[in-house]
Amino acid sequence: MNIAVLVSGGGTNLQAIMDANRNNQLGNVCISIVISSKPDAYAIKRAEIENIPVLVLSKKEISDPREYDRRMLSALDRAQTDIVVLAGFLSLLGPDVVSRYENRIINIHPSLIPAFCGPGMYGIRPHQAAIDRGVKVSGATVHFVNRNYDDGPIILQKAVCVFNEDTPESLQLRVMTECEQVILPKAIRLIAENRVIVENNKVILLAEEDAAGKERL
Ligand code: GRF
Repeated sequence: MNIAVLVSGGGTNLQAIMDANRNNQLGNVCISIVISSKPDAYAIKRAEIENIPVLVLSKKEISDPREYDRRMLSALDRAQTDIVVLAGFLSLLGPDVVSRYENRIINIHPSLIPAFCGPGMYGIRPHQAAIDRGVKVSGATVHFVNRNYDDGPIILQKAVCVFNEDTPESLQLRVMTECEQVILPKAIRLIAENRVIVENNKVILLAEEDAAGKERL
């Protein structure tokens, strides 16, 4: 199964995917391309170190959203992509990409959806909002992507405690290391093992033995 990983920033989630793949924890997965929306994203360096082909599709330079969508689609098709993984990718994918790869695009969001998600909720903001609201648990969610922000069927979630002394930054770090970097590789593995089914806008996770012989999404 070929995966394309889309990034915009530091690439810690990309790193977790590459590490898991190197340790044969993802099953039959090849990272066929990394696509960055920013030319200076550190994620690019991480991909180059692992000899993974990188393409920069700069949001700044390609300002027409339809042109961006067109180039994204052709890059994904050229890389023979089965699954698109948004790993800290900060733009909304266009309608053509979303419909071509329906239920084959996954995103990691740093909160327990439906809390602290939607437009503008990226970077430190979901964590700031969690602290401001005084929630006692937060976490991360891997979900399929549809045309709205953070709205598609939920695949996996993992929670951590929020402590009195937490700052948005300390919570962000805990969510990244204990949740995001754990459930994103795990979701990829489940998809590679044909264990993820979407029914009525909900994900059903199959036990290993029930997945045998099933067609991939
Ligand atoms: C992560 O918190 C991710 O959930 C969010 O962007 C942040 C950056 O991640 N969407 P990364 O280090 O670039 O993987």
